[in-house]
Amino acid sequence: MSNTYNDLSTAQLVEQALARNEGQLAANGSLVVKTGERTGRSPMDRYIIEEPSTADDIHWGPINRPFDAEKFDALWDRVEAYIAEKDQFVSHVHVGSDPEHYLPVKMTTETAWQNLFGRNLFIRPDSYNPADKQEWQILNAANFECDPERDGTNSNGTVMINFAKRKVLLAGMHYAGEMKKAMFSVQNFLLPEKDVLPMHCSANVGEDGQTCLFFGLSGTGKTTLSADPNRFLIGDDEHGWGPGTVFNVEGGCYAKCIDLSQKNEPIIWDAIRFGAIVENVTIDPETREPDYTDVSLTENSRCAYPLEHVEKRVLENRAGEPSHIVFLTCDMTGVLPPVSILTKEAAAYHFLSGYTALVGSTEMGSSSKLKSTFSTCFGAPFFPRPAAFTLSC
Ligand code: OXD
Ligand code: MN
Repeated sequence: MSNTYNDLSTAQLVEQALARNEGQLAANGSLVVKTGERTGRSPMDRYIIEEPSTADDIHWGPINRPFDAEKFDALWDRVEAYIAEKDQFVSHVHVGSDPEHYLPVKMTTETAWQNLFGRNLFIRPDSYNPADKQEWQILNAANFECDPERDGTNSNGTVMINFAKRKVLLAGMHYAGEMKKAMFSVQNFLLPEKDVLPMHCSANVGEDGQTCLFFGLSGTGKTTLSADPNRFLIGDDEHGWGPGTVFNVEGGCYAKCIDLSQKNEPIIWDAIRFGAIVENVTIDPETREPDYTDVSLTENSRCAYPLEHVEKRVLENRAGEPSHIVFLTCDMTGVLPPVSILTKEAAAYHFLSGYTALVGSTEMGSSSKLKSTFSTCFGAPFFPRPAAFTLSC
C-alpha cells in the first residue's frame, strides 16, 4: 500500500530520506545526496507546452522548446499513475514573497529529499490558501524513466511547463535545481504582465536601507556577494522588481560548494547544518566530514538551505527599489575594463546583450568548463518571453 505524506516538517523529511537510503547525514548535520548522471540542469530536456493561450508570447527556440499538449497530458497521466503506486510527499508552498504576486504551489515528489529541497528553496507560508489565487502543481517523479519513443521526450528525463494547465512536470530528474528553475521560469512569464520585472539576480540591503542587486549567470558570484556579513540578505538568485519593491521569488539559497571554506564564505558555511541539503559532495565514510574540494562527482556541487539559516537577513524577504545594480560579467576575454560605471543607455545595452561567461558544469551537455557567452538579462535559460525594452528618460 502506498502512503501520501502531507506537509511533513524538515525533521520528518530528513528522517524519511534517511530511512529510504536517499542520502546520508554529514557531520555538520546536513543531508548529503547524489543526483546520479545529471549533476546540473538539462536544457535539452526542458519544454514549454505549445497551446493557444501562450503560444504567441513565447520566444520559441533552443531554450524554450515546444512540446505537444496532448503528449503532455498523456505523460502527466502516466507519471501520476506511476507515483500513485508509490509513497509520495506533498507540500504546499509559495513562489514569490510579494503578497500580490506569489503563486500557491502544490508540490508532489517521489523522494523525500526533493520535497525538502522544495521546502527549503520555495517559501513556507504561515497559511496556505489557494482560494484567492490560481494554484500551480509540481509533479516530480525522480525515478520515472521517460521513453523518448513513447513519450516524445529527448531522453529518459524531462522538465515541462504547461501555462494553460498551471502544471510543472519533472520526470526522471534527480538534479533538484530543475524544480526551482522551472518555477522561476513560470514567474518570469507571468510577472511582466503585472508590470513586474523578473530578475536573475541576488539582492541585499545595507544598514542604510539601500537595496543592491547583483545580476549574473550561475557561478559568477551572486550568492557569494549577497552573503555579505555587513549587509542583510534578501535572496541569492531570483527576484521581482515592481513599483516600490524588490521581492524574493524564493525562500532559500542554492549555493555552489566547490572549494567552500569557513574563512572565505562564513555565512554559507554556517548555513550548512541540520535541514540543509548538500548535493554531490563526497563525505568521509567514517567522520562524515564533507570534502568540498573533491570534484569527482561534479564541479557543480551545491547546498540548499532555507533563508532562516542566515541570521543577517531581511525578515520580510523584500525591500525597496534598488539604489545600486551590479552586472557580474565574468569577462573571460578581457575586453571590458575590470569595473565600469554605466550610463542608463549602456546599462540597458549590456542588460539585453548579457555578455558574460557560462560555467559549463551548471548545464549538462556544455562543451567546455568556462566559456564566453551572451545571455540576455544574465539569465536567458529561464526567460520564456522575448526580451526588449523601451527607454523612458
Ligand atoms: C542556478 C542557475 O543554478 O542559475 O541558479 O543555473
Ligand atoms: Mn540561478
